[in-house]
Order: sequence, then C-alpha cells, then structure tokens
Amino acid sequence: MTRVIAIANQKGGAGKSTVTVNLAVALGQAGRRTLVVDADPQFDTTAMLGHDPEDAPHTIADVFLGEAEADPALLCDVAPAVDLLAGDGRMADVELTLVSQVRREEFLAEALTETIPAYDYVLIDCPPNLGLLTVNAFVAADEVLVPISMIDRNAYKGASTLLTTLATLRKRRVSVETLGLLRNNVDVRRNTFQTLNDALPELDAPLLEAQIPMRSGFHDATTEGVPLVIRKPDGRAAEAFRELALEIDRPRAEVPDPDAPIVASRKKARKSDPTLVEVA
Ligand SMILES: Nc1ncnc2c1ncn2[C@@H]1O[C@H](COP(=O)(O)OP(=O)(O)OP(=O)(O)O)[C@@H](O)[C@H]1O
Ligand SMILES: [Mg+2]
Repeated sequence: MTRVIAIANQKGGAGKSTVTVNLAVALGQAGRRTLVVDADPQFDTTAMLGHDPEDAPHTIADVFLGEAEADPALLCDVAPAVDLLAGDGRMADVELTLVSQVRREEFLAEALTETIPAYDYVLIDCPPNLGLLTVNAFVAADEVLVPISMIDRNAYKGASTLLTTLATLRKRRVSVETLGLLRNNVDVRRNTFQTLNDALPELDAPLLEAQIPMRSGFHDATTEGVPLVIRKPDGRAAEAFRELALEIDRPRAEVPDPDAPIVASRKKARKSDPTLVEVA
C-alpha cells in the first residue's frame, strides 16, 4: 500500500525541500520506489535533484492545466528508485486560477490517482504557506511530515498553527494524519534548540526520533543539485536521513479505528480529468 506524505510547514526555510529530496533518496536506497512531487512554485526540490523545469518534458503545471497526464510527465530515476514530477514557476498562476474551480482542493489527488499505486512512497513538497496548493497536497496525502528548524525561535508557534489547520481539515472529513514533527537544523549547543526541544512535546503531534543535524553541506548540495545523502553518504547527515527513512518505514501497528474519517475522493479509485474546469 502506497504511503503518500506531504512535507509541509508554512514557515519558510524550515527544511521542507531538503527533507523531501534526502528522504526520497534514503527511501530509494532502502529499496522503496519513491515519487517526489514538487508542488512548490519555487521548484527548489526539482533543482536540488539536479533538474530544471525547462528540461522536463512536462511539469506539475502541465498536469494541473490538463496538458499532460501525471505518468508521462515524470522524470524517471532522478536517483536510484526515485522518480520526480517536476515543479514549475507557473504553479503560482495555477494556484490563482484554482480559486474559481470546482473541487479546487482535489486536483492533485485526482491527477495522481493512477500514478500513486506504482510507488511505495509519494513525497509531496509543499510551498511555505497554507494556500490552495498546500491544501491540495493535504487532500492527496495520507500523512503530513513537519520539518521544524531548531534554530528558529518562532518555530513552535508555526507548528502549532499548522496542526490547527490539519485538525480543521479533519473536521471536514479530509483523512490526513500527522506523521510527525521532524527536528531539523539540530545543534544541541544552541539555546534555541534546548528551548524548542523542551516545548515541542507539548504539541499534539508525534515527535520523530530521528534528528537532522545542522550541516553546511546541505547548502553546497543545493548549489550542485546533488542531494547530500548521495554527495556525502558517510556523513552524519546522510546517516540521519537513513535513520529517518527506517523510522518512517517501520511497520506501524495495525489498529483498526472504526471512527476514522473516510473519504478523500482519491480513495475511490477512479479515472478523472484533472483539467481545470471553470465554475459556471
Ligand atoms: N539541516 C540543515 N543544516 C544546514 N542547512 C540546512 C539544513 N536544512 C536546510 N538547510 C538549508 O536551509 C535553507 C532552507 O532549506 P529548504 O529550502 O529545504 O527549506 P524549505 O522549508 O523548503 O524553504 P521554503 O519554505 O522556501 O520552501 C537551504 O539553504 C538549505 O540548504
Ligand atoms: Mg522548499
């Protein structure tokens, strides 16, 4: 069964794109077929994987605009066992267009319906806001992974706001769980780390065990378009991502919950036309 995970935090620079690409590579290395979906108009994830939207045969914008199906739009094997649906700067315009569409929150879920089953994991990198593209990612996802920058004094408040948004969506019967809070940019010597580390357990969300250390190598990896897990596989950062991949992949106890919210229309396997349709 595929696990679709949105990587989200409306705070800029929390490490969403860094976590998306390095976790994808670590999952791929562990033999899990993984699709990365770059839903951020900044398309940092695409660049971090060494690609340019201009070179991709199609991008996520083409999929939203109905100019391509998701499958032929994919860039295959951007890393071992990792495929990519490339981002596109035009997604900023697409988001504006979405506002007036029917079922505007379900476009991504419907566009990926046929594609998702081919993968063990689908990781969706979200933009740094809680706008329609992020909500599309939440509707498409089963779980949300929340990177927290442990050098950001305001990170607690940001995470709390995000968790409130997720709770609101659940009340609207969108079935999306919080996979966990991921401590990123970890430097245990800093006061900010200690303060945040003491406060995070108060939030109503699991705190993941794996922690991603602060390393300047992430910046160089971004510049070169080669994820750090590939660039420096023996380093502590790569090890941390392998630990994260293992932790996420660890089979979870199957506890049937009769009250669990159902729906999310994508779960009814159906072929649908993701082309934008103007509200009459
Ligand atoms: N663990 C880390 N150690 C050092 N630098 C990091 C770490 N994680 C991320 N960075 C750096 O912080 C910057 C922001 O990271 P990233 O782009 O992944 O954040 P983001 O949440 O995706 O940002 P945005 O909100 O703009 O999409 C990048 O320059 C990245 O290299
Ligand atoms: Mg990003």
